[in-house]
Amino acid sequence: MKKDVVLWAGAGQIGMAIARRVGTGKKIVVGDKKLENVQAIAKIMNDAGFDVVPVSMDLSDRTSILNFIQTGQTYGEIAMLINAAGVSPSQAPVETILKVDLYGTAVLLEEVGKIIKEGGVGVTISSQSGHRMPQLSPAEDEQLACTPTEELLSLELLQPENIKDTLHAYQMAKRCNEKRVMYEAVKWGEKGARINSISPGIIVTPLAIDEFNGPRGDFYKNMFAKCPAGRPGTADEVANVAELLMSEKGAFITGTDFLCDGGATASYFYGPLKPEQ
Ligand SMILES: NC(=O)c1ccc[n+]([C@@H]2O[C@H](COP(=O)([O-])OP(=O)(O)OC[C@H]3O[C@@H](n4cnc5c(N)ncnc54)[C@H](O)[C@@H]3O)[C@@H](O)[C@H]2O)c1
Repeated sequence: MKKDVVLWAGAGQIGMAIARRVGTGKKIVVGDKKLENVQAIAKIMNDAGFDVVPVSMDLSDRTSILNFIQTGQTYGEIAMLINAAGVSPSQAPVETILKVDLYGTAVLLEEVGKIIKEGGVGVTISSQSGHRMPQLSPAEDEQLACTPTEELLSLELLQPENIKDTLHAYQMAKRCNEKRVMYEAVKWGEKGARINSISPGIIVTPLAIDEFNGPRGDFYKNMFAKCPAGRPGTADEVANVAELLMSEKGAFITGTDFLCDGGATASYFYGPLKPEQ
């Protein structure tokens, strides 16, 4: 009998923590741009009793995403999606951040939505960053939600003259993830499937460590010191939320985003992390 398939993009720490919660007894197909990451993580999980196939995949490229999905389908029906691939503001230029985090995520949600098994479920990892940026107008939010994927990067609000820096690009990408999840949840719902996003705060992973050592290192260290939790989070704490969303207990939850940030966003608006005017 063919197993249900979990498609998992982004062989990082958050993705692995989620895959370990939901992947038992399933075929897990994990894709990442860095072959060494995907092979290393597949070995860790196969040595722990999971059934993981590593593949090379570039989230910024539609053809690569389609190949990734097709590879998954050779093993069985796609029952779950975990999207934890991404680049952070200190890791890449504006153009790459928009191509991977914004466009690539939108394409992946769209294409998996077309083939997801009835009753299937997905999570995509957004970020608290999308919650901290100033509100966009309802029309701009709708553009991020509903513009056809191949036209997304041509939107006026994403043109270089309208993007201040890599942090702004990352914030726009993560805002787009949240809006796209709402848009896609309607389509996924036609198949009885659900899709949600999680917006983590600072979670210690290689990506966050690059941020600690990057130009905004002090900003990030201050953020976790002054958030209500008083510390950064762990990938396992993000997986706690994903496990709820992807289980039967989350059956009434779709098209929404969950902040899991130790209260950093609350403190940014109404506490000690509030920027000085
Ligand atoms: N760690 C944090 O503090 C934090 C906070 C908020 C949001 N996030 C988000 O969580 C997600 C996962 O990050 P993480 O912290 O687990 O980092 P990580 O560095 O452990 O994993 C990210 C993975 O994405 C892969 N990747 C990068 N570009 C890719 C591409 N074009 N195609 C395919 N794979 C690609 C990387 O090779 C890496 O293996 C990202 O979307 C990130 O923005 C992380």
